[in-house]
Amino acid sequence: MRLNKYIAQAGIASRRKADELIINGNVKINGLPVKELGTDVKEGDVVEVNGRRIEAEGKKVYIALNKPLGYVTTSSDDKDRATVLDLVADIPERIFPVGRLDYNTSGLLILTNDGDFAYRLTHPKHHVYKTYRAVVQGQLSNERIARLRKGVDIGGFVTSPAIVNVIKQQERKALVEILIYEGKNRQVRKMFNAVGNKVLELERIAIGDVRLGRMMEGHYRKLTREEIEYLKNV
Ligand code: URA
Repeated sequence: MRLNKYIAQAGIASRRKADELIINGNVKINGLPVKELGTDVKEGDVVEVNGRRIEAEGKKVYIALNKPLGYVTTSSDDKDRATVLDLVADIPERIFPVGRLDYNTSGLLILTNDGDFAYRLTHPKHHVYKTYRAVVQGQLSNERIARLRKGVDIGGFVTSPAIVNVIKQQERKALVEILIYEGKNRQVRKMFNAVGNKVLELERIAIGDVRLGRMMEGHYRKLTREEIEYLKNV
């Protein structure tokens, strides 16, 4: 990015004023004064104006990934397992996952470099419901469903009311859709454990109204403008 644009995007001055700052020797890149107007700022460069470090507002990116099983949702793993960032390696911006999905959970994971956006989606006060499809062991009785809906103790924490619908009950397992807006570690698994049904498979199919859809596992897409606006205001 051109140095004058970088300074303007950092909110220091207009591009024209930025040019003046450059010509007058008020700008340094990586500690060295720069007086050339056409200078480019590269990734990792430290830019100072009048001795103060500045940072341009980078381009914001918003990605929806269909996380496969067997990937960790961190940037580096001490056991050297594959991470979700490996699946979005061709995105140049430094994006990070919004919230977490377990190693053994698949489905919709949003990644972004927009910290405010990430905070909004993960903080329970905003009540952004995440929809999970779970295959659970055994029968899910009405009494158990009622407990899940009301809130269960998952070890020192009582969950907020959940939306629970059994899609299919078979003899030995059930397919259930559950919506929660909190994101405690392994929350859905712990909730089903609390009522006596082990989770066999878990997939997140939506965050708010943003749905996973038919995207293949390991693939990603950019969120649409409408989805971004919706999630910023949900
Ligand atoms: N709840 C879980 O138990 N696991 C997840 O990955 C997400 C929610």
